[in-house]
Amino acid sequence: MKSIVYRTTGDPSVLELVERPVPEPAAGEVRVNVAVSGVNPTDWKSRVGSRPGDDLPFAEVTPNQDGAGTVDAISPEAAELNPQLEVGDRVWIFLSQHQRPSGTAQEYVTVPVEHVVRLPDGISFDVGASLGVPAMTAHRALTVSDQGPSRLAPGTLADKVVLVAGGAGAVGHAAIQLARWAGATVVTTVSSEEKATLARAAGAHHVVNYRESDAAQAILAAVPDGVDIVVEVAPGPNAALDLAVVKNHGTIAVYANNGGDSVTLDVRPFFARNLRFQGLLLYTVGEDALQVAAEDITAALVDGVLDVGEAAGLPLLRYPLEQTAAAHDAVENDAVGKVLIDVA
Ligand SMILES: NC(=O)c1ccc[n+]([C@@H]2O[C@H](COP(=O)([O-])OP(=O)(O)OC[C@H]3O[C@@H](n4cnc5c(N)ncnc54)[C@H](OP(=O)(O)O)[C@@H]3O)[C@@H](O)[C@H]2O)c1
Repeated sequence: MKSIVYRTTGDPSVLELVERPVPEPAAGEVRVNVAVSGVNPTDWKSRVGSRPGDDLPFAEVTPNQDGAGTVDAISPEAAELNPQLEVGDRVWIFLSQHQRPSGTAQEYVTVPVEHVVRLPDGISFDVGASLGVPAMTAHRALTVSDQGPSRLAPGTLADKVVLVAGGAGAVGHAAIQLARWAGATVVTTVSSEEKATLARAAGAHHVVNYRESDAAQAILAAVPDGVDIVVEVAPGPNAALDLAVVKNHGTIAVYANNGGDSVTLDVRPFFARNLRFQGLLLYTVGEDALQVAAEDITAALVDGVLDVGEAAGLPLLRYPLEQTAAAHDAVENDAVGKVLIDVA
């Protein structure tokens, strides 16, 4: 089978196309014939590591956490853990390469059965390969608030206002879609008119260009009572904005450090308004949170609300497997949209 591997950290040139035997699923694993591999910032960051040339924990690594394809073999232990899953099922994969060498940039990947989720009928592999990192992160950000909800379903965010920072990003896009589905009023910030169009297509009720206006003023003009939950990608630059718009018992759910590693918060409004500054990282959030996210995301897929593509607010940028380096490069250089690799 064709597989992309790297043996040392570094720039995209460390990625190499090789032939490898089709892997056998180990105990508890499922083998998936990958159709589409999804690329996220974490994939190039893992490949870069802390320094070019650093040793890896494995002799070689195939990149990319997310993907979608068809189940092709199931180990007996995996069949016991998930008796519903069958060979031939169309599935999406999450955290394929976390603490493991085998990501989805290859024709066949073996994955723990817990990280393989059946795609509802009619949902494309493109959608499936776009879910893992972005939609699970968005789900967690929307469900870690002081006053709930802890699950997403239609109506669970009915009386809430959600502010999504960077609504044209991959996580931001999923956050808008999931929050809308759950009944929230959704406000989002973007840096350009092109991104505003995408965020509106994703379903945001109010879109604020934070480069062109006083964003806090514009947000409060749209939602005068303020915001319950912020899905925050850039806590450093946005801390003052978030504090200006978040209401009593609000939560700022931080999933990234875009724009810098340090945050300055005015402490008085922070404690006086009972605010929560809540971090989240998929790699450490725990299996229970991942499983409920997968369940709720499946329900949202059944309801048809997690589409991708330009009309849905997330343009697709496609690369063949041989050009995985270019796909990583595109994500590292802030491509607007979802970068997918056609593996099959
Ligand atoms: N904690 C986790 O488990 C987790 C999971 C997924 C992703 N991440 C991290 O989250 C980040 C985003 O991932 P992604 O896949 O969504 O990337 P992406 O598609 O490139 O989107 C990033 C977005 O951040 C926005 N942004 C940057 N600075 C901003 C600011 N000051 N205010 C508002 N928006 C701002 C950009 O929009 P504008 O141009 O409009 O500003 C851009 O759309 C990456 O750093 C990634 O590593 C973390």
